[in-house]
Amino acid sequence: MSYTIDECNVERQQLLAQILNPMTAPLLAGISAGSVGSILDLGCGQGNTTRFLAGTFAGATAVGLDYDQKLVDYARGQAGNPAGVSFQQGDAAALPFADASFDLVFCRYLLLHLPDPDAAIREMLRVTKPGGYTIAFEPDCMLDMSYPENAGLPTITYLFQSLFAQPQMGRQLVYRFRAAGARQLQAGAMLGMEFDGGLYKRIYRLTAESLAPAIEAKGLLSAEAYATLLKQMHELEASPEATVFKLPDMWVIARG
Ligand SMILES: C[S@@+](CC[C@H](N)C(=O)[O-])C[C@H]1O[C@@H](n2cnc3c(N)ncnc32)[C@H](O)[C@@H]1O
Repeated sequence: MSYTIDECNVERQQLLAQILNPMTAPLLAGISAGSVGSILDLGCGQGNTTRFLAGTFAGATAVGLDYDQKLVDYARGQAGNPAGVSFQQGDAAALPFADASFDLVFCRYLLLHLPDPDAAIREMLRVTKPGGYTIAFEPDCMLDMSYPENAGLPTITYLFQSLFAQPQMGRQLVYRFRAAGARQLQAGAMLGMEFDGGLYKRIYRLTAESLAPAIEAKGLLSAEAYATLLKQMHELEASPEATVFKLPDMWVIARG
């Protein structure tokens, strides 16, 4: 697996969920709860997305699948798992499920990490029931910025573009879903912005720390440049006056 970011940091994963759940909720709001009895969440990580989906569609069964067994074990062990939620190890590009198994198949911040995202999209469409929903919510690594300017944020964008397998996944979603055979599509884009809270500022610092092994392995920054980046991210975290814009997110909903 060509995976460049350590997803085992609990605080970082919880912040990611706190940032992304409110952005994802409006996409799900248009789906009637009664039409979703079974959910598959791909790239579930520590299980935050799976629990969020299960909470949104009360009474539905939800399977969270992740490639990383450590994350699956962590997700399974969480006390807050609602009844009907389960987790299993697997590859999104080769799903261990029969055709037409789920009412809702979902992924968030997964496809950008995959060497062959089209295989995963085909699998998502395959296991969605006729009349069901296939949803992808993915970033596009074109922009991270603040005002007043923090000189480290363009470096973060450069690192995302250099390290992630599909840094332009957001803008490619509609094209790739159509190429995989999806016909009835809705899609959109949103730009995350924070001016009072500290979620974005904190997650940028944690992300810079999580990327350290990959930056070193690929020789993307000198030790000095990396130390500067960390200092800049700490400065951002400590600057209440800064407005931060995080990389834009794009989404697609396909009806089976
Ligand atoms: C950024 S995390 C997303 C976590 C969660 N969906 C969220 O939005 O908070 C991406 C997850 O995808 C998983 N992953 C990467 N490649 C995968 C693959 N081929 N099949 C399944 N999961 C994969 C990683 O292990 C990681 O947990």
